[in-house]
Amino acid sequence: MGFRSHAALLALLSLLLCCGSALSLKSDYALTVVENPDGGEEGGVEEEEATADEGYLEVVQPTEEWQTLRPDQAVPAGSHVRLNLQTGQREVRLGEEQLKYWTQEHRRGEDLQASFSPEELKQAIKNIKEDLSAGSPPDAGQQDYVVPEYRSLDELKRDMAQLDLLVETDVQIMKRLLEQLNSSSCTTEQRLSLLLELEYLVHQVDNAQTLCSMGGLQLILQGLNSSDFRLQESSAFVLGSALASNPLVQVKAVESGALQMLLTILVTTQPLLVKKKVLFAVAAILRHFPYAQHHFLSHGGLQALSELFRADGGGVLRTRIVTMLYDMISEKEMISQAGVDGLLDTSHEERVHQYSKVSLQEELLEMGWCGLVPQLLDSTEHDDREKALRALLSMAPVCSGQYRSDSSLLGSLLSLRDQYQEIIQTEMSPGEDNDYFADIVELIDALQVKIK
Ligand SMILES: *[C@@H]1O[C@H](CO)[C@@H](O)[C@H](O)[C@H]1NC(C)=O
Ligand SMILES: *[C@@H]1O[C@H](CO)[C@@H](O)[C@H](O)[C@H]1NC(C)=O
Repeated sequence: MGFRSHAALLALLSLLLCCGSALSLKSDYALTVVENPDGGEEGGVEEEEATADEGYLEVVQPTEEWQTLRPDQAVPAGSHVRLNLQTGQREVRLGEEQLKYWTQEHRRGEDLQASFSPEELKQAIKNIKEDLSAGSPPDAGQQDYVVPEYRSLDELKRDMAQLDLLVETDVQIMKRLLEQLNSSSCTTEQRLSLLLELEYLVHQVDNAQTLCSMGGLQLILQGLNSSDFRLQESSAFVLGSALASNPLVQVKAVESGALQMLLTILVTTQPLLVKKKVLFAVAAILRHFPYAQHHFLSHGGLQALSELFRADGGGVLRTRIVTMLYDMISEKEMISQAGVDGLLDTSHEERVHQYSKVSLQEELLEMGWCGLVPQLLDSTEHDDREKALRALLSMAPVCSGQYRSDSSLLGSLLSLRDQYQEIIQTEMSPGEDNDYFADIVELIDALQVKIK
């Protein structure tokens, strides 16, 4: 290791990791030192909770295994990102906060919340900075492998110091907004504009976590529970944005009963705009969070969605719902396939265990989804049909029997295939669109193979 007080640093690292929610670094750079992934001597610099708010970057979906990132690629917040000093490459895989939640749930009596005061955290960060500056730099031979676009430790430290100042500002803004929102003299119009400002801020991972630590989640949930549908809509929007790829907020929201409330609104509320935003929040709370998915299923989530689907003939919600189902199915599928090459860590077992309790397939069958999803093929939009085909394919293991006897589905597949073949053949200049249509034909072919 190139660092003097390695053990102390690792102790602090675990402290930082477990207290991520209270740690208000703005940051792609909760800088930590890790063991070399391949068991070598060299240290690595690890970034925790990388953010993906740079819109121009390609966003990579992390899996359970480390993948190498190109400089122009970003990852969803909450992913585990590390810088491999040997290769100079950044690597990513799934974060584990959502898994820990379920594990900890079984340890009654233990407080989920970070039990460190802001002062202690500040000191911890300061210590880390000092430790880093005390450490000797990586030796020259090793440096050859570090490509220039990665910052030196000094630069990272300077960034951290600057970020500390910036965070102060965002935290202050959040505090002001929440106080105003909490004031009884606040009009609905004012509330709506406050929520809009909050929505903008919570895209930042740590702002969303600050929202939780300041008690803002309760205020958002009150807004969701409001009788004014505009407040409901805006509150669901803030919640969804705060939840998006933010494991710690997902955990806090589930603890606060948000999922149950969202489900209730989904089945009781009328305005489409509210339902849209509520669906957005539901999708965000479930993503990579098997406990929430389990809870969702056992509290009638799929039934609520199927009612919504049936009531939304030809509407915009259908595609969103089907996409959500597809995401859940493929997420579970991805976990079960990940173990094949045997390179996985101990959390894999926990992940598999938790996902095994998400009885998605059985529920899909019971709630009639094998017959509902094909209806989306009637849409005139290519995108809707593509989403439907992907979902149908992912559901084939449980639905193929029903597909086989669904003459309307079989007819749709034949006519869609003809239609897309024709588009491909008559297209003047082969290009991206043509590739897209060729993909659709491939999906149809793959589905027909599963049905036969
Ligand atoms: C809102 O006000 C109540 C009392 O008026 C207080 O207990 C609560 O902490 C406040 N919440 C926030 C988020 O400021
Ligand atoms: C939602 O509102 C109802 C009454 O309008 C109230 O009884 C209930 O406690 C509220 N729930 C939350 C979580 O605020």
